[in-house]
Amino acid sequence: MSDQKRIPQHVAIIMDGNGRWAERRGKERYEGHIAGIEPVRSSLRAAVRHGVKYLTLYAFSTENWGRPAAEVDALMELFCQSVVNETPELIRQGVEVRMIGDRSRFSEKVQQHLARAEEQTAGGKALTLILALNYSSRDEITRAVKRIAGHVADGTLAAGQISERTICESLDTAAYPDPDLIVRTSGEQRLSNFLLWQASYAELWFPEVLWPDFTEKDFDRAIEEYARRDRRFGVLNK
Ligand code: FPP
Repeated sequence: MSDQKRIPQHVAIIMDGNGRWAERRGKERYEGHIAGIEPVRSSLRAAVRHGVKYLTLYAFSTENWGRPAAEVDALMELFCQSVVNETPELIRQGVEVRMIGDRSRFSEKVQQHLARAEEQTAGGKALTLILALNYSSRDEITRAVKRIAGHVADGTLAAGQISERTICESLDTAAYPDPDLIVRTSGEQRLSNFLLWQASYAELWFPEVLWPDFTEKDFDRAIEEYARRDRRFGVLNK
C-alpha cells in the first residue's frame, strides 16, 4: 500500500470468540485462548509489515474476573508463558511491549512476568504492542478522575483548568495516540468497555471470524477496509 496516509497509526483489537471456537470443537474454553496466541503473532507480523505503529489488544477485562476460576487461572498462565516465549521474537521484530489497565490486582508472579517483558523489549522502534490487562474504560476513567480530584484537593490544579487534555493525560493511554481503527472479531458489534474515551473518532470494523481463526490476511483486510473509510473528524473534507 503506497499511500501512507491511509495506514492507521494505531489499531486496537477486541479478540473475541475464543470460547465459541473451542466449544464448537468440543474443547475446553481455555483451549480457545491457547489457539488465540497464533493470531496475536500473525497480527503483529502484519502490523509491522504495514507500518502500523501501535497495536492494542484487549486481553483481559475487569469483568473477566467473573469467569470460572479455572479459566481465569489458565489465562494468567497463558499470559506468563506467552510473554516469556515470545519476548525474543518481539525484540527481533523491534516490538516494545506496554500495558494499560490496573495490574495491581494480578498476582506477584504475573506482575513480574509482565514487567520483565516491558523491560526487555523497551526501546523497540518498529511497533508498540499495548496489552490491555485488567482493563475497562470505566475503571480507567474512574482512576483518572480520582487522580485529577487529588490534584484539585492538594491545590496543584484549579477545577476550572480541567480540560480534555487534562483527562487524556490522566488516562492509562496518555503516552499513545487514539486508535484510528478498532476491530472486534466474532461478529459482535459492541465496544464492551474498551477505549470508550479514545474511540471518539475511531473507525470500527466487525468481521465475523472468530479470533483463533483470524489470519494475517484478515489483518490485511482490516487495513484495506480502513483505507476505504472517509474520516472527517466532524468537519467537511474538501
Ligand atoms: C475473548 O473471547 C477473549 C479473551 C477473554 C482472552 C483473550 C486472550 C488471548 C487471546 C491471549 C492473548 C495473550 C497475550 C499475551 C496477548 P471469549 O472467551 O469471550 O469468547 P466467546 O465470546 O466466544 O466466549
